[in-house]
Amino acid sequence: MAGGRRLLHCLSPACLLLAVTVVVTMPGLAAARTRHYTFNVTMATVTRLCVTKSIPTVNGQFPGPRLVVREGDRLVVNVHNNINNNVTFHWHGVRQLRSAWADGPSYITQCPIRPGQSYTYRFQIVGQRGTLWWHAHFSWLRATLYGPLVILPPAGVPYPFPKPYREVPVMLGEWFNADPEAVIKQALRSGGGPNVSDAYTFNGLPGPTYNCSATDTFKLKVRPGKTYMLRLINAALNDELFFGVGNHTLTVVQADASYVKPFAAATVVISPGQTMDVLLTTSASMPASPAFAMAISPYTNTVGTFDNTTATAVLEYAPQRAASLRGIPTPSLPAYNDTGAVTNFTSKFRSLASAAYPARVPRAVDRSFFFAVGLGTDPCKGRPNGTTCQGPNGTARFAASMNNVSFAMPRTTSLLAAHYQRRYAGVLAANFPATPPRTFNYTGAPPNNTFVSHGTRVVPLRFNASVEVVLQDTSILAAESHPLHLHGYDFFVVGTGFGNYDAGKDPARYNLVDPVQRNTISVPTGGWVAIRFVADNPGAWIMHCHFDVHLSWGLAMAWLVNDGPLPDQKLPPPPSDLPKC
Ligand code: C2O
Repeated sequence: MAGGRRLLHCLSPACLLLAVTVVVTMPGLAAARTRHYTFNVTMATVTRLCVTKSIPTVNGQFPGPRLVVREGDRLVVNVHNNINNNVTFHWHGVRQLRSAWADGPSYITQCPIRPGQSYTYRFQIVGQRGTLWWHAHFSWLRATLYGPLVILPPAGVPYPFPKPYREVPVMLGEWFNADPEAVIKQALRSGGGPNVSDAYTFNGLPGPTYNCSATDTFKLKVRPGKTYMLRLINAALNDELFFGVGNHTLTVVQADASYVKPFAAATVVISPGQTMDVLLTTSASMPASPAFAMAISPYTNTVGTFDNTTATAVLEYAPQRAASLRGIPTPSLPAYNDTGAVTNFTSKFRSLASAAYPARVPRAVDRSFFFAVGLGTDPCKGRPNGTTCQGPNGTARFAASMNNVSFAMPRTTSLLAAHYQRRYAGVLAANFPATPPRTFNYTGAPPNNTFVSHGTRVVPLRFNASVEVVLQDTSILAAESHPLHLHGYDFFVVGTGFGNYDAGKDPARYNLVDPVQRNTISVPTGGWVAIRFVADNPGAWIMHCHFDVHLSWGLAMAWLVNDGPLPDQKLPPPPSDLPKC
């Protein structure tokens, strides 16, 4: 891969010769291509649950177009914003090595693409293969603006498991009868929790468990005795999901575009932002009943309301057709608050850690951080007219924070532009706290004062620093699991536990051999998780809860990773069409 990367930055004949040699001798790289896509963001009319409405789409499709590329490919995505709203796109999980300008979170790596404007995202897929996805990264627009990003291995490189007969992206989503933008605007005005979704969806279809929805059912036609790979993506806004298939066992082989040691599971758990490739082998002969339900239902410990529905899709053995979907074998999914089932599942993930796919876990740590993650409140006093306080007890407003800092998006520039120009004043403060401002029993009785502070505070990191972050859930307003997503990196999940992290005891139990590598990990409810990564990618990288409601409440922070000394360790200048704020 290093050879491929060097191509970008070498101009001398000797260097080019070397690079060409490297390309020719490395299988896969020779096939690296540039893939061009056009995203026309347009409103389209869609009907679900007998509600017809106009939703933002890419090219009129919902869910959006499927991008299928190979590891090593370069992507060029021309985005034209034809809707009456700002938009940006994020390529969730793509490392964006020295292409931070293409990462996409609004106000972090770019200003939004305004109505009528365009921006071209250019990046390369390096050292990743499996399933990722793309989604809008402005407000809650990702409710309908999302699609799969399938990364095949380089040509001629096999999977480390038998090649599946078919591969099928299965995007799990959340449908709102209302306009999701109105839902979050209303919540931010009232200070209360947002209205919950009306249905869960499989590839945009809610299926027969909802009123007026039986014709909108995702159906996967299969043949007996074959292995299918389901590329699961949780694109829901605010819900972790259980997934299972009636009478069929699943084998997990990949998570967040990294291979894992295969393991079997009847039920999987997938958090918003996460992806997971699972193998499903159909029964050797035609089963008595040709159809089986695939089902999803929420996992949550919230004390607030949530969408407590189950969506189903159908696995149907061709060429038969089920006479009726009533009474077909359905997976028995765990209860919505079954944390034991979740822990049992998540504890099974291990990196492949093979010669071909080594786990380069940082052994030593240069910078250690301890972030308390959770909800909090804002006082009612001093709010502008028209805002109310329908948060906790009707006396405050909901907020969320890391180390008690509720992240405030910059508005006049992006963090990355400020960083590139070294113009920090008035935009950000490089003083995000490494530990909580006051210690308390994070998972015990919450403190009396739950007010958060607000700010655009970041952690600067030297290039190649090896970083450990312990993410500790708090029980403020309710212990709840938080799917934390780090942009620009995959991290290793070296440890996890319930209760308060113990710096004296817990590190001794870390897995530094084959921990799973991910871009999104759920901080367990009332527990903690420790992650490690090497800051080898210069830029401004947001780390945030992938529940959009918590992100809207400020559950985020950002890292500023400085350039390294070598030419290929520096952030290139911004593209000329980078949108202005
Ligand atoms: Cu999938 Cu910051 O997002």
